[in-house]
Amino acid sequence: MTDHDNIIDIPSLQWYPGHMRKAERLVKENLKLVDVVVELLDARIPMSSANPILREIIGGKPRVIVLNKADLADETATRAWVKHFAEQGVTAVPVDAVKGRGVKELVQAIAKCAKPKTDKLVQHGAKARAARCMILGIPNVGKSSLINRLSGGAKTKVENRPGVTRAKQWIRLGAQLELLDMPGILWPKFEDQQAALHLAFTGAINDNVYDVSSVVLLLLDTLRIKSPSDLKERYRLDEELTSGLELLEIIGRNRGCLRAGGKIDYEKAEQIVLTDFRSGRLGRVILDVLPSAPDTSECGKGNSENDDKRNRERISSR
Ligand code: G4P
Repeated sequence: MTDHDNIIDIPSLQWYPGHMRKAERLVKENLKLVDVVVELLDARIPMSSANPILREIIGGKPRVIVLNKADLADETATRAWVKHFAEQGVTAVPVDAVKGRGVKELVQAIAKCAKPKTDKLVQHGAKARAARCMILGIPNVGKSSLINRLSGGAKTKVENRPGVTRAKQWIRLGAQLELLDMPGILWPKFEDQQAALHLAFTGAINDNVYDVSSVVLLLLDTLRIKSPSDLKERYRLDEELTSGLELLEIIGRNRGCLRAGGKIDYEKAEQIVLTDFRSGRLGRVILDVLPSAPDTSECGKGNSENDDKRNRERISSR
């Protein structure tokens, strides 16, 4: 990644140490109220969308992982990630929070994960109760969509509970679940440029905090290795997919992104590529490589030094 360092301008992200400490404190303060922590990850980037210190923050609290946006991720690779998490003793459930796919399985997984605790309470004479959880994840990963799905659109508040600050509200999510209503926003791995790039590709971080041109070229470079047939089909490409820059030029031309004098409107072509990728029209891809798998996907791999130089020249000539 040395050639592409600092494409993502990390210091200008909306997250500052103060925000992070506040988010961390909020999770820690409320942890004792729940049986299970539900961690939302983006199924296309299960590593890059993870909070770097969540496990440390939640200690031994049972955790269920949601691989959300599974409709946009490769199914076989998703199964491999589910297996990977299972090997670490964590249940991961692929979910499409928009269409509701996997939501039933998720509810069952959370209830199962909470069962040792809820059973114990019953053994000690308490009334049987729903599993209590908090939902955590980085911005845009689909927390609100999932909560909407789980609640069927109608959030039912649970009555105030003795011993719990009045401000704390619970939302009933069907018969089996109660959700602690708190802003469950976590921060991703900003310090890692590869992760930051993947977050930019998927739209998890705002497009105005990075150099869109460079990011799109790297995205095209990644896709021509990971999903060349989808790329060729979508943009009707007959040519060999040689580099991100050449691809962008062809896409711009094929899509009529032209300025006066027939010059390519790169900004327009870039937006087409970003929108197509984020909506799954360039194939169902998982960008993060399983820790045990050989990494053949690194962005920009296959680029010659000349390509990199030409990319820089084009971007700086705008
Ligand atoms: P957040 O609360 O974690 O910040 O995320 P939110 O639910 O607002 O979702 C962010 C975007 O991701 C939304 O799209 C939402 O529709 C989309 N999304 C959430 N879950 C899924 C999923 O499982 N699959 C797919 N394909 N998309 C998902 P948006 O374009 O920002 O908003 P909208 O146009 O859908 O309203």
